[in-house]
Amino acid sequence: MGSITLKDVEVQFDGKTVLAIDDLSLTANTIAVIGANGSGKSTFARLLNGLAKPSTGQVLVNEIDVVTEPKRAVSQAGFIFSNPDVQIVMPTLIEDVEFSLRSVGLSKAEQNAQAMAALDAVGLKHLADAPAQSLSSGQKQLLAIAAITVRKPSLVIADEPTALLDLGNAKQIAQLLLSPVADQVVLVTHDMKLAGLCEVAVHFDQGRLVSVGAPKDVIARYEKMFA
Ligand SMILES: Nc1ncnc2c1ncn2[C@@H]1O[C@H](COP(=O)(O)OP(=O)(O)O)[C@@H](O)[C@H]1O
Ligand SMILES: [Mg+2]
Repeated sequence: MGSITLKDVEVQFDGKTVLAIDDLSLTANTIAVIGANGSGKSTFARLLNGLAKPSTGQVLVNEIDVVTEPKRAVSQAGFIFSNPDVQIVMPTLIEDVEFSLRSVGLSKAEQNAQAMAALDAVGLKHLADAPAQSLSSGQKQLLAIAAITVRKPSLVIADEPTALLDLGNAKQIAQLLLSPVADQVVLVTHDMKLAGLCEVAVHFDQGRLVSVGAPKDVIARYEKMFA
């Protein structure tokens, strides 16, 4: 089981507080993060692997302090962005996934075997030697997931991973992420159907935590704001 704990956290940019969370503890496997544009969702997501730093307060992920132990924080978390193009770093699929394992200290054969297994898990094994840039957007996102999950992170953070995908691809990516692909999956999304599939939802508004709880209730309150 994974755990995310934030205490008295504030994130500031240019002296302005963009996110403030007094007390938040999450142990669910799948966590939806919802809220309007600019409400602090990405900042929250980025706090969890140390991409964003709190000005004050403490962020613990699986008891690891993200600020004081940045290397451990990064190595236990995988981050998936909306645009899969920014995540592809090598020419072919297999090379791209193997690249994720470069510093793990495996033999070349073991690296290849693990990368193949990760590609197989997302249904792309048959394209292992194809150029990554020849993939469709949906396939690129699957590749990004393989390149993240091959390192077996305990936390996967996905920031609007289906935003650029058509309905079919979005559904496939969502199902895969929520299978779940890690002990904990944090899914930032504007897709309320998708948020509803998570165990817990967190709603931010103007940098504040509005509600945490069963997605059905949290979504209903969010939707009421626009009724
Ligand atoms: N690197 C940054 N520098 C300055 N302001 C930022 C930075 N990142 C985010 N912000 C600001 O923080 C607020 C929250 O942004 P963000 O977390 O990206 O919101 P969301 O993901 O919900 O759209 C916004 O007002 C945004 O402009
Ligand atoms: Mg965002």
